[in-house]
Amino acid sequence: MELIFEKSQAGRRAGRVPSYGLPVPEVPASLRRAQAPRLPELAENEIVRHFTNLADRNFGIDTGFYPLGSCTMKYNPRVNERVVALPGFANLHPHQEDEGAQGALELMWELQQILAEVAGLPAVTLQPAAGSQGELTGLMLMRAYFADRGEGEQRDTIITADTAHGTNPASVTMAGYKLEKVATTDRGNLDLDDLRAKVNERTAGLMLTNPSTLGLFDEGIAEVAEIFHSQGALLYYDGANLNAVVGISRPGDMGFDIVHYNLHKTFSQPHGGGGPGAGPVAVIEALEPFLPSPQVVRDGDVFRLDHDRPKSIGRVRGFAGPFGVFVRSYAYMRAYGPDLRAMSETAVLNANYVLARLRDVYELPYDRLCMHEFVLSARGLKKEHGVTALDVAKRLMDFGVHPPTIYFPLVVPEALMIEPTETESKERLDHFVDVMTRIAAEAAEDPSFLKEAPHKRPVRRLDEVKAAKEPVVKYAFGDRPLVEAGA
Ligand SMILES: Cc1ncc(COP(=O)(O)O)c(C=O)c1O
Repeated sequence: MELIFEKSQAGRRAGRVPSYGLPVPEVPASLRRAQAPRLPELAENEIVRHFTNLADRNFGIDTGFYPLGSCTMKYNPRVNERVVALPGFANLHPHQEDEGAQGALELMWELQQILAEVAGLPAVTLQPAAGSQGELTGLMLMRAYFADRGEGEQRDTIITADTAHGTNPASVTMAGYKLEKVATTDRGNLDLDDLRAKVNERTAGLMLTNPSTLGLFDEGIAEVAEIFHSQGALLYYDGANLNAVVGISRPGDMGFDIVHYNLHKTFSQPHGGGGPGAGPVAVIEALEPFLPSPQVVRDGDVFRLDHDRPKSIGRVRGFAGPFGVFVRSYAYMRAYGPDLRAMSETAVLNANYVLARLRDVYELPYDRLCMHEFVLSARGLKKEHGVTALDVAKRLMDFGVHPPTIYFPLVVPEALMIEPTETESKERLDHFVDVMTRIAAEAAEDPSFLKEAPHKRPVRRLDEVKAAKEPVVKYAFGDRPLVEAGA
């Protein structure tokens, strides 16, 4: 497909609106460009065709199965879009005073209550814009808490699992903590002996996903909590995998003191490609005073933003947070009601069904009942036929399936991390299993065919390292003529 720049013809223009003769604001001469920017020049219908054709090539949860482990790419009910488009929500100005935004504030307050119940913790901030920002916020809360107790200097280390998502160590470093990793046992639990040797009076806390990125619930979580709490340290729950446990078990009951939710994963906000998302954070009572400001509070029947929070870590995001995400997630929660538990149960059932059907086709490094996702390994295919997890992932695209997460978690060689989610039918799951089985057979019969996959997509195998290291983000028009704007 040609680039829009390649389709450009000097002098072509889209539709023009009539001039109303209104004064044109003067841009100060010092800020004006010397030359018009080199923009593509096309007629309006060609622009529409260009972007429609590009959009047709896009792959999303609305076009096919998307078992991208850890990302929870589930179906997003359309009713959410109707609700978020209601004029009272969609047209609300972020500077609207509290009296004129009672409905929005009530929705946010209610959302806080539901999230508090889901986590089993009393206080929630809605501000963080993503799970990763929730992580940073949570660590800043730990900092503020320990500083308030006079232990700020002493507690300088955060412990994470060797299966941790990359954002965990990144957040730890950004928050100014030292990072220490704890090993995982052969059963996929945190190694308690390793943990006991590492947790001491310098430890500020643990950052853990449970179920882990291996899709396994940590069987020693009560002991883990005891090890940290006995040293006065705190436990942070990375809620990216919450879709496995909603209504079944609560991080607060497991002993966690801080929890983030990825509303865009668990509560059906459309996402991908980096957003939009929301990463609210829940905390124990002792951490409530430090939550970001403002907080949404209720006084009798009136809702307001509370800015009077002297111990707060301050604001972590503009205005009151990503409001559209709140509306969609709230609509989803209210539509499900008590059936949110069924959501998690079905996610776990679907994952175990696919696991049971694939366990003899690929290697299964941790042989346990999984939660909402599981990790297979293509190590055997690599050893016997030279076919890697990447080759399997690329070939899946030929069958209209989005590849699973690959090469993560790092503790599993040639990892394929599969998360079917609760919204997929048995037929879809069976199709995926059939395709994965066929690919394993192809690896034995004709490995070079897999090395060249995908075969049926508009774009074949890309040099991903080159694309990442040498991205071409500017089109060189070369000797194509420049036409002055307005010409
Ligand atoms: C385990 C885990 N933790 C944290 C994150 C970060 O969340 P976000 O993408 O919302 O920043 C992710 C994202 O995929 C994740 O899978």
